[in-house]
Amino acid sequence: MGIPHNPVIRYNEEEIELAALLRAFSRSQVEFDGHALTQKGWPAMTPTLSTRLQPLSISVFSELNRRKRELLEQGQTFIDLSIGSPDLPPPAKVRKALSEAVQEPEHYGYGMHGQPTFHQAVAEFYASRYGVTLSPQTEVLQLMGSQDGLGHLAMALLNPGDIVLVPDPGYPIYSASVVIAGGELYPMPLREENRFLPNLDEIPQEIAHRAKMMILNYPSNPVTALADTQFFAQVVQFAQRYDILVVHDFAYSELVFDGLRPLSFLSVPGAREVGIEFNSLSKTFNMAGCRIGYAVGKKELLDPLALLKSHLDYGLFLPIQRAAEVALTTDLSLLADQVHVYERRRDTLVNALAQHGWTVNPPKATMFIWARLPNGHSSQKFALDLMEEAGVVVTPGYAFGPQGENHVRIALVQPEAVLAEAGQRMGDHLRRRG
Ligand SMILES: Cc1ncc(COP(=O)(O)O)c(C=O)c1O
Repeated sequence: MGIPHNPVIRYNEEEIELAALLRAFSRSQVEFDGHALTQKGWPAMTPTLSTRLQPLSISVFSELNRRKRELLEQGQTFIDLSIGSPDLPPPAKVRKALSEAVQEPEHYGYGMHGQPTFHQAVAEFYASRYGVTLSPQTEVLQLMGSQDGLGHLAMALLNPGDIVLVPDPGYPIYSASVVIAGGELYPMPLREENRFLPNLDEIPQEIAHRAKMMILNYPSNPVTALADTQFFAQVVQFAQRYDILVVHDFAYSELVFDGLRPLSFLSVPGAREVGIEFNSLSKTFNMAGCRIGYAVGKKELLDPLALLKSHLDYGLFLPIQRAAEVALTTDLSLLADQVHVYERRRDTLVNALAQHGWTVNPPKATMFIWARLPNGHSSQKFALDLMEEAGVVVTPGYAFGPQGENHVRIALVQPEAVLAEAGQRMGDHLRRRG
């Protein structure tokens, strides 16, 4: 398999809007305050997109978003199951801690870096939840959401010609970050018959030798799969043999169902020498808007990202750090309650779809259903028609990579009654379409 020189990149909504903005900027005639400006000089300057960013301006979502906006303007309402932003609130203690912390006048300076108490809370959480021992001082790096770290890591590590092995389908920032950093992508297909694990034996040796990183994500978005110790042990061996940094995105570590347990990559023998892990408070504690996450692993492996970040930002708002500490050290039995909420939502939607003629695999983890479209429907067309005709918004699988085609991702971000209604509408829509 050749190396894709013109990778197909997929983006989330915010990234699409950014791309549209950048495209608008690169036109020869820029509108400013309603006036067309064509003269040289600020603010009529007309920067063009860098060659690197150009692939980012093409998107599967453009048509879907354009149509969604039009329909909203016409007054149509939707059940929106497209974005994985939790609808549940953070624990009450966390909200209380945040509101108290914002009252403190000394909390308004630059945060600069993670507070020692935050680092300590992450280390305790990792020890108790995943059996991984971390040095709070050197093996925890605070991030503005795990996206911050995942987005910047490639920039900190890649040189031209370096390859990154990414899952296909996979969460869009993995490929976008590599493109922005000027690296090359090598997609690893995730196939259902291989439990959505990449087949490492399929990776050609010359690719493996040029690869600098491998990105993995279990529990995975969008395919909802889990990894096991045996697979991670193979990854460790592969990484040792080819000198590759393994980057494990563990954002859904606490959304694992049916009594199964999450598996941290760092808990596998040898993994600490070859890999780092990203995690987040966004899904575990419903703090997505607070933008707080972290990377963990050996200091030497985290240092390049820490160095880049020391040039880019001044750290997190202190009250958010305080709220995150409270979340990580609170009574964690609430995590089990949350898992039950998602299990019930999953069952409700899977059953509603089945009753209306659409059988999908119930996920073992994450907040998504990864649903295969019968009869080879195009995911983009299906999602567009579903939105227009049934008023339900889902994400086309192609948005996560070519291997995601003929699937849609449905986010369990509404109460059960709404999901039951959505299931009925989706099933009926599919039946009408044949
Ligand atoms: C797989 C995965 N990783 C990372 C993120 C980023 O999460 P955050 O930046 O909020 O920590 C998301 C968000 O949806 C995700 O789905």
